Amino acid sequence: MIKIISVVGARPNFMKVAPLHKEFLKHKNKIVHLICHTGQHYDEKMSKVFFDELDLPKPDFYLGVGSGSHAEQTAKVMIEFEKVLIAENPDLIIVVGDVNSTIACSLAAVKMGIRTAHVEAGLRSYDRTMPEEINRILTDSISDYLFVTERNGIENLKREGVPEGKIHFVGNVMIDSLIYYLQKAEKSEVLGKYGLEKGKYILITLHRPSNVDMEAGLTGIISLLNNLAKERKILFPVHPRTKQNFEKFGILKKSGLSENLIITEPIGYIDFLCLTKNAELVITDSGGIQEETTYLGVQCITVRDNTERPVTIEVGTNWLIGTDLGKIESTAFEVLKGEAKKGKIPELWDGMAAERIAKILSKLLFSIPIFQQK
Ligand code: UD1
Repeated sequence: MIKIISVVGARPNFMKVAPLHKEFLKHKNKIVHLICHTGQHYDEKMSKVFFDELDLPKPDFYLGVGSGSHAEQTAKVMIEFEKVLIAENPDLIIVVGDVNSTIACSLAAVKMGIRTAHVEAGLRSYDRTMPEEINRILTDSISDYLFVTERNGIENLKREGVPEGKIHFVGNVMIDSLIYYLQKAEKSEVLGKYGLEKGKYILITLHRPSNVDMEAGLTGIISLLNNLAKERKILFPVHPRTKQNFEKFGILKKSGLSENLIITEPIGYIDFLCLTKNAELVITDSGGIQEETTYLGVQCITVRDNTERPVTIEVGTNWLIGTDLGKIESTAFEVLKGEAKKGKIPELWDGMAAERIAKILSKLLFSIPIFQQK
């Protein structure tokens, strides 16, 4: 038997590990798949709800690390994950995405000589002020198997001198989840709950430190949303980081909110998928949502100067126009008037990425003599 531990830590990790877990269950005669939750995200609405909705089992290990500075959080995950590795001695660990738990667990494992696979490898924004960019570069540079979502990722890795044999272009596990749960999402009643009409509202998510940690920027965003709310209903589920800053700066009280602007708690996976699919426009700074809107053909304005997911601009429906709020507002109004990017679904975003990964891993791991003897 091969023992694999997959790591989840923060909200965007859960929908990436869920399809891998489903796939490994098909091979349970040869593979034991365990899940370790670092506890980087811990609120029910940022974590547990995803386990329930994505049919993920209760994690086998919960590290309870919680929030902290980057160094604190990364270090705590390393210390706790190393204990799991010592006790379990897995044959492989899988990390996904680019959060602090991703680099922390890959670093702990690689230093113990445990094989490590990085799913969603090779993405680069070329902006080293983003903590995620540092996590991506470091995780890719130490991992043994690199699973890439878009062709651009292959080029990035080659440019960094990664041997071609480590790189596997497999598609996008997050899109596997989207495809799997789309039918369920169609049945969601979330539009009615917020009084939204299909194709006639704007969905907002903003949580990047560069957008939400400074008072002026956050005040500007609310005034932008108030302007857009003159034309359309807006739903803004607020991430804990953003909520904390709203409270810290007293922004919601100071700014006054249009009654067309609905601010809510974070929303679970199925309802959020329904909201994304039926939106006229999404405005976001999330990485994953740029990909989900591209798959769904929904117009998306990304409030960032760069993206590590260029296929969403080159092939998809993503508009990358920078962080100038005036430009975002004028582009949003153009989209509402009917200006739309016609997108296509990127190569291999077909719901089969996890299957490809499992096939490649079985082939690679079982070709190692030690596993042939087992
Ligand atoms: C993290 C990831 C980011 C990802 C995002 C998705 C890193 C460096 N950042 O950012 O890449 O896009 O998750 O959501 O790993 N908090 C809560 N409850 C929670 C979790 C966090 O209240 O369940 C609050 C805490 O006050 C915490 C703050 O949110 O200090 C930020 O959380 P943290 O995990 O440090 O980073 P995110 O901004 O969530």
